[in-house]
Amino acid sequence: VNSSSSIVITGAAGMLGRTLVRRLAHRPLQAFNRSQLDLVDLDATDAVIAAIKPKTVLNCAAMTAVDRCESERDAAYAGNAVSAANLARSCEKHGARLIHFSTDYVFAGDLDRPYHEADQPAPRTVYGASKLAGEDAIRELCGRHLIVRTAWLYGPGGPSFVHTMLRLGALAGPPLTVVDDQIGNPTSTDAVATVVDRLIDTPREGTMHLTCSGSATWCDFAREIMALWRLPRQVTACTTAQFPRPAPRPANSRLDSSALSRHGLPAPPHWRDALQHFHKDFVDG
Ligand SMILES: NC(=O)c1ccc[n+]([C@@H]2O[C@H](COP(=O)([O-])OP(=O)(O)OC[C@H]3O[C@@H](n4cnc5c(N)ncnc54)[C@H](OP(=O)(O)O)[C@@H]3O)[C@@H](O)[C@H]2O)c1
Repeated sequence: VNSSSSIVITGAAGMLGRTLVRRLAHRPLQAFNRSQLDLVDLDATDAVIAAIKPKTVLNCAAMTAVDRCESERDAAYAGNAVSAANLARSCEKHGARLIHFSTDYVFAGDLDRPYHEADQPAPRTVYGASKLAGEDAIRELCGRHLIVRTAWLYGPGGPSFVHTMLRLGALAGPPLTVVDDQIGNPTSTDAVATVVDRLIDTPREGTMHLTCSGSATWCDFAREIMALWRLPRQVTACTTAQFPRPAPRPANSRLDSSALSRHGLPAPPHWRDALQHFHKDFVDG
């Protein structure tokens, strides 16, 4: 395919990448997983973009293992910053628009309201800092870019919080203790794909937040999963302090996605509706 309307998806074997490949199948699309295109290799990246000359590149590649990023700093910067910079250079050179995904972890998480696009990033983790370095490289190197920040993602095949809860929820045992003092917007890859499908045809540039609406703590989210799947395991609330992790989690991960509808794009569903939709697809196979 060498079409002026063609789309390249990188990081296509990841959770979001797989959903986008499926949901955008009606478009001229070429998908590359890591073994087909490792974005750390600038020459390989440039060769692919030069050969296809896509109109749009959707970059789903990242190192998303938040705790591992703390101890594998070089790998985190390679997967989240160097790779984004390489792709940005190639897109700029060959006239492609780059749509890139980023995260709530670029923020400190200490605001008492949802984060707007213009709020100042202040990451507290290696993951967040490396993702912010990726964003900054794209802003510097690629004129036609759109950075889409999302959060608390789950989708077919996982891995995700939903998949972890389904596994643990099916086991007999004492109540599961789940953090109840971190708040965010649980978001399905399907809801992201619906908006991305529209964004491809919309010349928006800059930075946009894209999560499902409504907010929840991890504990609220876990209880909703147990209820929908009718799993018997009880869930009890605990605090972040009772459940320390190598990478500190933002207390407030909420992103304000209201700019989407102000720009005529579809408002994403409420997180409970998106989860119900996911449950139905899950049960129906
Ligand atoms: N999951 C979430 O909750 C969440 C929340 C907010 C934002 N996001 C963002 O959303 C995007 C998609 O996340 P996801 O959940 O789909 O992540 P994922 O399932 O971990 O997928 C990322 C994919 O990128 C690949 N990759 C890593 N380094 C690469 C490289 N150098 N070149 C090419 N591919 C590479 C990975 O391959 P390997 O498996 O071989 O490493 C993996 O297939 C990311 O930008 C992430 O930061 C995710």
